[in-house]
Amino acid sequence: MKTKKVTIHTLQKMKQRGERITMLTAYDATFARLLDESRVDILLVGDSLGMVIQGNETTLPVTLDDMIYHTRAVARGARRAQVVGDMPFMSYQASIEQALVHAGRLIKEGGASAVKLEGGAQHAELVSRLVGCGIPVMGHIGLTPQSFHQMGGFKIQGREDGGAERLIADAKALEAAGAYSLVLEGIPVEIAERITAEISIPTIGIGAGAGCDGQVLVIYDLLGMDDEFKPKFVRRYEHLAMRIRTAVDAYVADVKDGTFPNEAESFFLDKKRKPAKKAAAVAAFSHVGGCAPEPNVAAQGTRGDGGETEAKLYSSPKRD
Ligand code: KIV
Repeated sequence: MKTKKVTIHTLQKMKQRGERITMLTAYDATFARLLDESRVDILLVGDSLGMVIQGNETTLPVTLDDMIYHTRAVARGARRAQVVGDMPFMSYQASIEQALVHAGRLIKEGGASAVKLEGGAQHAELVSRLVGCGIPVMGHIGLTPQSFHQMGGFKIQGREDGGAERLIADAKALEAAGAYSLVLEGIPVEIAERITAEISIPTIGIGAGAGCDGQVLVIYDLLGMDDEFKPKFVRRYEHLAMRIRTAVDAYVADVKDGTFPNEAESFFLDKKRKPAKKAAAVAAFSHVGGCAPEPNVAAQGTRGDGGETEAKLYSSPKRD
C-alpha cells in the first residue's frame, strides 16, 4: 500500500486541529527508517550533525556537501515523514542568488522536501524568493546555533528588554514571507506561547516549552548517546551509550577468548555440516544484559535444514 507523505499542508492542518507535530533529527537511512516507522512527522537533517556525527564543538564547520550527503541518506530511509534539509552556515548568508542555488541542491541532490534556515526578519526576502521557486522553508529563531559567536555561546534568547517583541516580529516577518513552519529554540515558555498564538503556521519547539505546536529533539540526545550531555530541555528515553558499551565489551571479550565466532556462525566447505549446537549463537550472547540476539540466520538455517545459505545472509530486509 502506498504511504501518504507528510506535506506542508498536512502540518498546517495539524496545527488547525490542535494535533501536536513530532520532529526528530536523522542523519542516515537506518535511523530515518526507524523513526519513520514510529510515525515521526518530520525528519530534520540538522546541521547538528556537525556536533553529534562529526564531533565538532559547533555546527559552523558543516558544509553544503555534508548536508546533501546526509539528506540523501535520510530521504532514502523515509517513506511517510517530511524530510527537511538544514542550510549550513554561510550557505545562504552571502547572497540570495547563492542561497537559491544551494537550497535547490538540497532538494534536487539531497531529496529534501523543504529546507530550514536560521534567522528572523533579515531573511524575509530570501524566504519569499525560495518559496517563489517552490521550495518550502522552515524558519528557525531564538537560540540559533550558527550565531554561536554572536550570542557568546549557546544561551537562552529573548530575556533582554524588548527580546520578546523582537522574536515575535521575526516570527511574523517569516510567516509573512511564506515560511510554512518555525523552529523556536531556547526561548522562554511565555514568548513561545505568544508566538504560537499569534502566527498561523506551526511552531516546533526545542527548549521552548510545551506551548508550541510540535516538538523537536536531536535523536542522539533522546537516546542518551552522550553521557556528558544532558541539558535541561532534553528528556532521555534511553541510555544507549551505556547499552552500546555493554554490547561492545561483550563482543571484545568474546573475540579475545575465542568464543566468537562459534561453529553456528561459521561457513564450512561441507555445506551440509550442521553446527555442533544449534543454540550456540544465542547462548553466547546470554551475558549481554540478558538480551538474546534475534535468531541468527546462520544458526537456524534459512532452508530449514540447518545448512548454509550465504546468499540470503546479506539480503535487505523486506519492506512493503
Ligand atoms: O540542527 C539541528 O538539529 C536543529 C534542531 C536542533 C532544531 O536545528
